[in-house]
Amino acid sequence: MSETAPQNADRRAIGVFDSGVGGLTVLHECLVNLPHEDFVYLGDTANFPYGPRKLVEVRRLAFAATEALVDLGVKLIIVACNSAAAAALAQLQAAFSTPIVGVVMPGARAAAQATRERRVGVLATEATIRSNAYQNALQSLDAGLEVFPVACPRLAPLIQGGDVFSEETEGAAREGVAPLKAAGVDTVILGCTHYPLISPMLRRLLGPQVALIDSAEETAREVGEILTRKGISQSKDREGDYRFYASGDADEFREVGARFLQLPIREVNRI
Ligand code: DGL
Repeated sequence: MSETAPQNADRRAIGVFDSGVGGLTVLHECLVNLPHEDFVYLGDTANFPYGPRKLVEVRRLAFAATEALVDLGVKLIIVACNSAAAAALAQLQAAFSTPIVGVVMPGARAAAQATRERRVGVLATEATIRSNAYQNALQSLDAGLEVFPVACPRLAPLIQGGDVFSEETEGAAREGVAPLKAAGVDTVILGCTHYPLISPMLRRLLGPQVALIDSAEETAREVGEILTRKGISQSKDREGDYRFYASGDADEFREVGARFLQLPIREVNRI
């Protein structure tokens, strides 16, 4: 069988969901690494942010988003929201027959491989930190790792609001980074979809000796491997398509979203 044209190319799209536009950083990596695949992205903007919510509530929202994507006939679902993956991935996988991938394990795996001193920091929303998902994932990979989780409740709303390079955002980033510097970590996981947008700021604050792990990049890599192993890839000689659904305002999604996707956003449907 030729590598570029699988005999039974699976023409269904890949579903991606997030609490809003943040998961577009994950979609960006997927579009760059898997340009031949089709994607359908659902942003639950009406319920953004998930981070401050109770885990049961995040789980309920994650089930609703997953059901919507299953109804659209996707072949695989990416839970591109760290908070949703942290709160609900296991329950979603148990409940649905469609393969479901989260962003937590790919990021944890890359961090466990990258750390030399076995001291890993995690920056994420309150929900993600409260769930212990990164802590558990990291320690399942290397029980000797020391994990330093830090919740940054102000960061995602500031970045989403467009305040990416403001002093207020830098102040919130500095607050998150301070305990990690004190702990002497050598690796930090960007455990929230919004943080790749401020990675230059975080790099400067943490210093060049600290490795930054972007869960989005790692997830895209893992999705590619899963498609190949399950034999459900599209033919590699085509250019894929991508479309959007949002539970909130479509124009706002298009406007704010382009910054996260760094690619054109055409039609956005309300769901
Ligand atoms: N997408 C969310 C995450 O990665 C960030 C924003 C939110 O709180 O919903 O955790």
